[in-house]
Amino acid sequence: MTPKRLVVAITGASGSVYAISALRHLVSHYHQIYVIASDNARGIMRDELGSDDIPALVGMPDNLTMLDNSDLAAPPSSGSHQYDGMVIVPCSMGTVGRVAAGVSQDLISRVADVCLKEKRKLILVPREAPLSVIHLENLLELAQAGATVIPASPPFYHKPKSIDDLVSAITARILSQLGIEQDLMQEWNG
Ligand SMILES: Cc1cc2nc3c(=O)[nH]c(=O)nc-3n(C[C@H](O)[C@H](O)[C@H](O)COP(=O)(O)O)c2cc1C
Repeated sequence: MTPKRLVVAITGASGSVYAISALRHLVSHYHQIYVIASDNARGIMRDELGSDDIPALVGMPDNLTMLDNSDLAAPPSSGSHQYDGMVIVPCSMGTVGRVAAGVSQDLISRVADVCLKEKRKLILVPREAPLSVIHLENLLELAQAGATVIPASPPFYHKPKSIDDLVSAITARILSQLGIEQDLMQEWNG
């Protein structure tokens, strides 16, 4: 049986907590999860979460493999390596621009490029405000190329009581897009 693998990339937008929340849930649904963090993501993570030790923040799961963003020879850099897709969470506008332009000069933008060319799932969770015309055009280009864009913009109709509730709403959207049943957020029934 082909192992279920996923790539999760963390880039330098505000919202590192979204990445940790998503990873905590995703580890129980995949045999292996490759994690790639950009240097800017690590800086922001230290600021926002007090640490950039991703395995420790996720709870030291056995199936999490850290990859270096400069290692263009890492397994998911090739379309011949089987994995289900990629989530970039949070996704900076810098990364959005590089992926939209097909500039594969680091592992994160290369894996995103592979997902688009191989028609694998590519989920982007961008965070920026306000958005320029360049940001919007890049996001449109990516959506047209097959990516799914989930803005890091949680809803309020579920009456969130904590930051955790707000973060969980975005994690729920990511899990749903990957076809994973989730009970973080109840479906709307009118
Ligand atoms: C504290 C801080 C917060 C940032 N927040 C955002 C953000 O929310 N969205 C964004 O697109 N860029 C943000 N940036 C800018 C990116 O980190 C910067 O464009 C960087 O080059 C992105 O690189 P990367 O995509 O390789 O991680 C922030 C930078 C800093 C220092």
